[in-house]
Amino acid sequence: MTRGTPVLLGRFRNENHMALNTVLVGAQWGDEGKGKIIDVLTEEADCVVRYQGGNNAGHTVFINGAKYVLHLIPSGILRPGKMCMIGNGVVVDPISLLKEIEDLRKQGVTIEANFFLSETAHLVFPYHRLLDEWREHHKGKHKIGTTKRGIGPAYGDKVERTGIRVGDLLNAKLFEFKLRNKITLNNAILKAWGAKPLSFRKVCDEYSTAAEKLRPFIVASVPLLHQWMKAGKSILFEGAQGTFLDIDYGTYPYVTSSNTTAGGACTGTGLPPHRVDRVVGVMKAYTTRVGEGPFPTENAEIADMLHAMGREFGATTGRPRRCGWFDSVATRFSQMVNGIDDIAVTNLDGLDTVAKIKICVAYKDGRKELDCMPNDLEQLRRITPVYKEFEGWRTPTTAAKTFGDLPKKAQVYLKAIAELTGANLKIVSVGAGREATIVV
Ligand code: IMP
Repeated sequence: MTRGTPVLLGRFRNENHMALNTVLVGAQWGDEGKGKIIDVLTEEADCVVRYQGGNNAGHTVFINGAKYVLHLIPSGILRPGKMCMIGNGVVVDPISLLKEIEDLRKQGVTIEANFFLSETAHLVFPYHRLLDEWREHHKGKHKIGTTKRGIGPAYGDKVERTGIRVGDLLNAKLFEFKLRNKITLNNAILKAWGAKPLSFRKVCDEYSTAAEKLRPFIVASVPLLHQWMKAGKSILFEGAQGTFLDIDYGTYPYVTSSNTTAGGACTGTGLPPHRVDRVVGVMKAYTTRVGEGPFPTENAEIADMLHAMGREFGATTGRPRRCGWFDSVATRFSQMVNGIDDIAVTNLDGLDTVAKIKICVAYKDGRKELDCMPNDLEQLRRITPVYKEFEGWRTPTTAAKTFGDLPKKAQVYLKAIAELTGANLKIVSVGAGREATIVV
């Protein structure tokens, strides 16, 4: 299968019935509603593989009125018969993972032979969380606004080549040796900062108990992934966070610590680059961001309106999200770096009551007009957005089943988003449930 072959969205087979691999990414600053789109696409995929991030992510899915919040497990787990895998690029807090498994099982979700955990994924430990918290505290007003889940310090250990991996959990002696060294070193840092040191015994016991419960799921993930591909399975690669939180392409240092962009699917799972058949970029009909860092189209009025509707509170930390107008300078860059073929626009209904809706089409720095997001954070903070204004449709859109059912003004707005971003509009989400989804 090669790129460029016409593909129907919602279909994971081409016209020759060959299986397709799809990478799904967030095209903004995260929280684009990826969980729901993954759930919709998974109907026709065979397998879902998560490739980066950790339990900093929160994917919310509503099915028949029931709410499911997933942090580490691919959202595909909610569909019976789908194979789900946590790839090597993810950082895994095993205690949090077990709690998630337990909670989902209580909701009737099967997590047995349909779930696999890569033995080369790195582990998150309590010292990572404490370091995350202390680093943020010491940064004061320059803090990143992390989720305090220990994600940065865990990836830091991985890159520093001192991390402990999922597979290490299965070798008790080696695990104890590695953990003792890490805790001794990190306790010295924590003590210097005035924080309480960790008990090696307590952490070791807790993780060893978790290891036994996780043992049945732990696999060499790359050969299994390739076995699936050889068997003609169609695979959905699930990204977490969003393009502008990418460690390389985001608004550094106000980013997360992994590659959230499409390339992360290859390094985070063992998917060969030439086997990516399609990239789906998920974007809200407006923009949101949690945590600190530049946000060119931020707008207090739209934030107040969305919060008053009970929308835009973080799934992981409950923090109110910062909100603003749709930024096509950002999504154009996102299209570039991810190679987005198809767009899924979510939360269109969030704009149902707005009279005049704006899209940012360029940035202005003094007299200079920019059509690409600058890398210099000071310049990014300084620029002002150039807006194009659209008439609001001021009609509820949630009941629409087809693109034609949407108000004409909403259609114009969506077409503008697709054209300015430079990709095909393929999905529009107009509500939280599976049924509130339009395939264009
Ligand atoms: P960390 O990933 O916890 O280190 O947080 C780094 C930055 O990424 C902060 O601005 C967080 O708010 C943001 N972030 C991390 N995970 C998510 C997510 O799932 N959605 C939106 N923002 C996130």
